[in-house]
Amino acid sequence: MRPSRRLEKIPPYLFAELERKVAAKKAAGIDVISLGIGDPDRPTPEVVVGALRDAAGRPDTHQYPSNRGRTEFRQSVAAFYSRRFGVDLDPETEVIPALGAKECIFNLNLAFLDPGDTALAADPGYPVYTGGPLLAGAEPTLMPLLRERGFAPDLSAVAAADRERARLLFLNYPNNPTGAVAPDGLFEEAVAFGRDHDVLVVHDASYTETTFDGYRAPSFLATPGAKEVGVEVFSLSKGYNMTGWRTAAIVGNAEALESYWRLKTNIDSGMFEAVQLAAVAALEHADEDARAMCETYARRRDLVVGALRDIGVDVTPPRGTIYVWAPVPEGHTSASYCEQVLEESAVVLSPGSAYGPNGEGFFRISLTIEDDRLGEAVERLRASLGG
Ligand SMILES: Cc1ncc(COP(=O)(O)O)c(C=O)c1O
Repeated sequence: MRPSRRLEKIPPYLFAELERKVAAKKAAGIDVISLGIGDPDRPTPEVVVGALRDAAGRPDTHQYPSNRGRTEFRQSVAAFYSRRFGVDLDPETEVIPALGAKECIFNLNLAFLDPGDTALAADPGYPVYTGGPLLAGAEPTLMPLLRERGFAPDLSAVAAADRERARLLFLNYPNNPTGAVAPDGLFEEAVAFGRDHDVLVVHDASYTETTFDGYRAPSFLATPGAKEVGVEVFSLSKGYNMTGWRTAAIVGNAEALESYWRLKTNIDSGMFEAVQLAAVAALEHADEDARAMCETYARRRDLVVGALRDIGVDVTPPRGTIYVWAPVPEGHTSASYCEQVLEESAVVLSPGSAYGPNGEGFFRISLTIEDDRLGEAVERLRASLGG
C-alpha cells in the first residue's frame, strides 16, 4: 500500500540503525545504558497526580472537552505567565490548550503553510520543525546553529528568496539539542524579522523551566512587540515530569491562536478536562518540585561534563535543558563515535547528525537517568575512551 507523497518525503529515521544494534546487544544479555532519549525519569509531582485523581472523579470532566479549554486552565496559564515571566495574557483570546508542544508545532505548519511556502527551522533542531513543513506540503529552510554564534541563527543570512516565501520562523530556547540559552538580542531580532517579512514567529518554550546556576529563561513574549508577530508554545512535559500527559498551551497572538483553534476543531476534540485541571495544579503548586528537578539535572550535568573533560572532550556546561551537547573527537563522525561508544562501553549516545546537517560532529547526552546509572555510564566512558 503506497503511503502519501507527503509522508514519503519525510527522511528515514536516523536512530533506526542504532536502535537495531541496541536491541541486539540487549538480546545478548549486555547491560546497555541509554543516554539517548530525553524523557524525565522521575514521577510527576504528587500534587499533580492527586489533582488528576480528584478531577477524574468529577463527572463534569467526562464529556468532550472544548478546544478552547476550561476557563480554569486558561486563567491559570495567564496567571503563571504574569507571575513567572511578567507577560500579560488575556485568558479569553490569548491562551489555548495543546496536546503537547509536538502536536501544536506540527499543527501550526498545517495552519500557516501552503505549497511553495517555507518555514525557517534551526539546524540542528527538533525534528518537527522540518518534518512539519514537509507534511504540510511546504518546505523547511534550515538556519545553521553554530557554536561560534552561541547556537543562535543568523537571521540576516536568510536568503532574500527564502524571506519572501517564509511564513513561519521556529525558535527554541533553552535549546534542544545544543543546550544553549537565548543570546541577548535574538528575540528582538526575531520580532523585527517577523514584522518586516510578515512571518509568524513560533517560540518553542519546552525547556524554560529546566535551567541551572541561577539562570531563569525568559519568555519570548516578554520582548516588546512579540505578541504582534508571534506565539509561544509552553509545555509542561519536561519542567513538571509530565511527558506522558500531553499538556501544553499555545499563548500569544490572538489572530494566530484563532487559526490554530479553527484547524484543531477539525482534527481533535481537545484535552481531557481532568488533565487540564491537573495542569492547573502543576502551574500553581509544583514550582518547588520543578526547582528540585533542576537541581538534580544540574548535579547530573556536572557529573557528565566533568567526565567528558577528563577524557579530553571540549564541552560547555549547559545552563538549561536536560542535555549535554559535545563535539566528537577528531577523526570521528557523529555516527562513528556513537557506534564506537556503543560497541566499547554499551552506552547509547545520540548522534548530532540526527538533528540536522549542522549537528554533524557532535553528540548529545540526555540527563534523564538516575544518578547511579549515569555514574556507571560515565565510568564506562572514562574507562574505554580515556584509558
Ligand atoms: C524542543 C522540543 N519541543 C517540543 C518537544 C515535545 O514536547 P511535548 O512533550 O510537549 O510534545 C520536545 C521533546 O523532546 C522538544 O525537545
